[in-house]
Formats: sequence, C-alpha cells, structure tokens
Amino acid sequence: MSLAGRNAVVTGAASGIGLAAARRLAQAGAAVAIWDLNEAGAQAAAAALVEQGNRAIAARVDVSKRSDVDAAAKQAREQLGPITILVNNAGISAFTPFLEITEELWDRIMTVNLKSVLLCTQALLPDMLAAKWGRIVNVSSSSAQTGAASMVHYAASKGGVIAFTKALAQELAATGVTVNNVPPGFVDTPMLREQLKDRVDAIAAASPMKRPGRPEDMAAAIAFLASEEAGYITGHTLSVNGGRYS
Ligand code: NAI
Repeated sequence: MSLAGRNAVVTGAASGIGLAAARRLAQAGAAVAIWDLNEAGAQAAAAALVEQGNRAIAARVDVSKRSDVDAAAKQAREQLGPITILVNNAGISAFTPFLEITEELWDRIMTVNLKSVLLCTQALLPDMLAAKWGRIVNVSSSSAQTGAASMVHYAASKGGVIAFTKALAQELAATGVTVNNVPPGFVDTPMLREQLKDRVDAIAAASPMKRPGRPEDMAAAIAFLASEEAGYITGHTLSVNGGRYS
C-alpha cells in the first residue's frame, strides 16, 4: 500500500491515535501536516518524522475554530501542495452523570468533536474535488455504537460523526472522494489513561483479547481507508475493537 505523492492532514496528531496515524501515513509515503492544540507536541511529532526522512509540518490549530482551521489549511497547501487525505481525529472526552451535564460542557464537546469535522472538511474538500480524488477518515467512538453511561454528551457527538460520515459519503460518492469512520473502543492512549486511571487493567482483562487496542491498531485501519485500494468503500464504519462489541 503506497501513499507516495499524497498529502495528508491529521488532526490531534500530537498524541495517541492521531500520532500513530500520522506515522503510519508517513511510513506509506504521504507528506503529513500535524495539527494540534498542543503546539510543542505537534512540532516534536513533525520533527521526528522529518528526521526519519519523511515530509512533515506542524501547526498549532484549535480545530473547533474556523479561523485557525482555514489558516492552517492555507499553510499546509502552500508548504505541501493540495491536501487529499484528511483524518479528523482530534477529540475530547469526559465522564459526566447525565443530570450534571451543563450547557457549556455539552457545547464544548459538540464543538470540538463534531463541529471540528465540519470545519476541517469544508477547509480541505475543495482540494479533493479539484483532484477528483480524496479520502476523509473520521475517528468516531464505539460509545456511539453501544452507548456508554455518563458519556451521553460524548456519545451523542460521536454519533453525529458517524451520521456525518454516512451523509457526506452519499453526497460525494460520484466525485472520487470517500468518507469513512473508525470507532475506537478501548485504546491505550493518554486520553484513556487519564479517564480510566487504575481501571485499565481490569477492563483489559475482561475484554476478548485481554488487552487494550494500541494506537497502531487504529492507525492501520485509518491508513487502509486512506489508500487507493479502499476506493470502493464509502460511508463505512470500520470497527477495530478486538472483538469487544459492548
Ligand atoms: P489523546 O488525548 O491522546 O489525543 C487527542 C489529541 O487531540 C491531543 O493531542 C489533543 O491535544 C488534541 N486536541 C484536543 N482538542 C483539540 C482541539 N480543539 N484542536 C486540536 N487538537 C485538539 O486521545 P486519543 O485517545 O488518541 O483520541 C483520539 C480520538 O479517538 C478522539 O477523537 C477520541 O474521542 C477518539 N476515541 C478514543 C478512544 C480511546 O480509547 N482512546 C475511544 C473512543 C474514541
């Protein structure tokens, strides 16, 4: 599988799944723009890729702000060329009992997890339409498939990402641009460790493969959906969960 000559943007790529996806796309030959709120982390990730002989750039971007996204899209286009692969991965999570969800928290989760997908896709889709080729891969969540207690806000935002994926896939089906999503369930990243703390090992022991997913497991699926070979797959939800369906 080669992505040589392709230019990609990966959001939230300073850490976890996004970082692994950026590395995997670069390994397949793509030039990668790493977008993250964490500027130092984004710079370090890009520098490591450049050190290994890849083309990579970094930008501090709040994906929930159109002005940030549009400025970073312009920079990526100028420095790498047209962007035809977009991985909408940046996201935030929280455990909040339903009656304690404030409007502010609801809006924040929706804005970072769902509105960001609109903003980044609108900023980069014109490049893909002009190229008559594009790959949009959205990182959703198994919580949107199975439900998750104390995560109504988060699950609703990620359910929106899955619906967004299916609807845009239909709208773009004849254009050469595919839109798919990968819903992680239980992946060993800083986000998971922060949220589950000392429960990670117990949850891993209860899961079919007796281990959490690795960021690289998600990255492999993301890279496949970004590849030439996945061109007849669109609107799809590719669950990569080690057999953990609830
Ligand atoms: P992580 O916390 O390790 O990485 C997320 C990255 O997104 C961080 O580098 C963070 O700075 C960045 N980010 C957050 N808000 C941002 C914003 N407004 N603008 C730009 N960057 C921003 O988390 P992880 O686990 O790698 O999560 C990646 C995606 O996978 C998220 O969308 C998350 O909801 C999803 N996911 C993860 C699961 C897991 O088990 N780790 C389970 C289900 C979904």
